[in-house]
Amino acid sequence: MEKNIVPHSYQISVQDRQKLNNQNSFLIWFTGLSGSGKSTIANAVEKELFNNDVKTYTLDGDNIRSGINSDLTFAPEDRTENIRRIAEIANLMIDAGLVTLAAFVSPYKKDRDNIRSIVKDVNFVEVYINTSVEECERRDVKGLYKKARAGEIKNMTGISAPYEAPENPDVEINTETETVDQAVKKIIDYIKPKLQLNYE
Ligand code: ADX
Repeated sequence: MEKNIVPHSYQISVQDRQKLNNQNSFLIWFTGLSGSGKSTIANAVEKELFNNDVKTYTLDGDNIRSGINSDLTFAPEDRTENIRRIAEIANLMIDAGLVTLAAFVSPYKKDRDNIRSIVKDVNFVEVYINTSVEECERRDVKGLYKKARAGEIKNMTGISAPYEAPENPDVEINTETETVDQAVKKIIDYIKPKLQLNYE
């Protein structure tokens, strides 16, 4: 931290906000290839939480990259900065008392480890949306794989840039064998105990 920056202590704490919301706050991070189904599943999980009166917010790669991170490319160092900023934003949202969902390719293990250290381990749930590159390319919802094969997109994850799959995710979804409803149930079952406030 800059030496002339002195954080101010505000009187309303994260615990106060969690109590008011009657819920815990933490981050559900979805990682996986482009077109793997991260946003679809994050959206369905958020809907389920919302319908159960849980206060949420979702951060999504395609939206964030057209706004606050519009200055960043897909080069490795820019992806690192992309993820760092999202982790800091998610940290503020956790502090605001929200269950935060984030759907980003986040292909580098070291960047995902950095999220964990920014928001703290206890607040981080890693969900790996495991869809093979062959299947993502077959679906090619946005036409990006076709462009990458034609050399029109550089650094395309899974084609011309790496994806380092999580070795030990909290939840793993295989979209080639599991439905969206099954995925939602699996994730909700995992986070249910975390939602409860553990103080009076
Ligand atoms: S990340 O690697 O920095 O985490 P992020 O999730 O923000 O990526 O953005 C990924 C989205 O950008 C993809 O879903 C896709 O729509 C689009 N995109 C455009 N170019 C690329 C590329 N070279 N590699 C991956 N995704 C890309």
